[in-house]
Amino acid sequence: MPESITITDNRNGESIEIPIVDGGVSAAEWAKLIPGIWFYDPGFMTTAVTESSISYVDGDAGILRYRGYPIEQLAEHSSYLEVAYLLIHGELPTPAQLEGWIHEITYHTFIHENVRKRFLEGFHYDAHPMGLLVSAVAALSTFYPEAKDIFDPDIRYKQVIRLIAKMPTLAAAAHRFSVGMPFVYPDNSLSFPANFLSMMWKTAEPRFDANPALAHAVDVLWILHAEHEQNCSTTAMRVVGSAHADPYSSCAAATAALYGPLHGGANEACIRMLMEIGSMENVPSFVQAVKEGKGRLQGFGHRVYKSYDPRAKIVRALAEDVFAVTGKNPLLDIALKLEEVALADDYFVSRKLYPNVDFFTGLIYQAMGFPMEMFTVLFAIPRTSGWLAHWTEMLDQDSKLARPRQIYTGHAERDYVAVGER
Ligand code: ACO
Repeated sequence: MPESITITDNRNGESIEIPIVDGGVSAAEWAKLIPGIWFYDPGFMTTAVTESSISYVDGDAGILRYRGYPIEQLAEHSSYLEVAYLLIHGELPTPAQLEGWIHEITYHTFIHENVRKRFLEGFHYDAHPMGLLVSAVAALSTFYPEAKDIFDPDIRYKQVIRLIAKMPTLAAAAHRFSVGMPFVYPDNSLSFPANFLSMMWKTAEPRFDANPALAHAVDVLWILHAEHEQNCSTTAMRVVGSAHADPYSSCAAATAALYGPLHGGANEACIRMLMEIGSMENVPSFVQAVKEGKGRLQGFGHRVYKSYDPRAKIVRALAEDVFAVTGKNPLLDIALKLEEVALADDYFVSRKLYPNVDFFTGLIYQAMGFPMEMFTVLFAIPRTSGWLAHWTEMLDQDSKLARPRQIYTGHAERDYVAVGER
């Protein structure tokens, strides 16, 4: 059987055969037969915007791999920084490469004093840290104007290092500002996640040593959140990057996309939902209300996963390790009951709605003491390496400016009417 499709233009009977390659068909071939007829595909539901070798997702089978490595193996054996190296470079590092990479990242964690003192401190005291982060990432482009030279390999690489390194510092600075605590400088003697926890929680002690189990949990969560192919924020990164904007501006756009509750904001929305439900007894009536169209189950459903999100499985297990240190998050029982009720209900089963990665992450972060406003920030920190891997891949692909078409449904031409005559 030929691996191709044939399209016939019924207006003139002309046909074209298009080969199916790697599960896709070329839209350029389609355009040869019927130029000016656009694919109508809101939300890119059936559009592959690029070829990519960074991550592989099989939504029906619940499979996620970074550069071919199963997410379960990376979560168990790797570290976030090693995974970031893998995403950016395409291969796992040798011991020497890993050492060099960690050294580089560690020594770029500091942010310019003006970012903190002049810029971040200019925000209102109760500014949402994601709002601060979006703005601060964009502001970095003004501190590194050479970053515009995106086709110089050394300059490009330097910005990759800087962005991965500085995100936790910006994130922690945003939090400290919002609670009126002094900024904590990075401690280069600590591991990447332990340094972040130090910048978050350090008070008067000379050195903050995070509980190793909690630092490990953060590291695993960052591995799970590092990359997820053409999601909304990565698409934002690629779209803005396709205009050859500098990586800070592109990353700011990606961070803004992540802020939305349908995407990275879901972990915060999920905890708010669990608090609103309040007790296990209220779960069935809440689920009933969702089925009647009164809101959605936050942390449930996914554009790609139509089975249990493999990351959610890992997070569910990780929650036990964290709760052993912090004590159980009282919302866990409500979450488990909600999962049980939903997964036994035909509404959710027939629509293939399962817990996604955000269903349990908020519970862990909350138990560790992170305010809800920080949950999406905690997502943005590791996703930066995925965004940058795609940005780099896109520039190397000689990609086109992202510029979709539309189906125009507005007025036909009409004459302007003076304001007094309307
Ligand atoms: N609760 C209840 N019903 C839902 C949910 C949900 N969480 N998600 C989808 N549905 C229903 C829809 O109402 C729709 O039902 P219908 O066919 O009767 O109209 C059907 O399932 C399909 O939903 P769509 O919105 O078409 O699916 P889509 O792929 O566009 O949505 C999304 C994916 C946005 C993630 C959605 O499932 C959702 O809103 N989930 C809640 C928010 C969330 O958890 N987001 C995080 C995603 S993971 C991430 O970004 C890291």
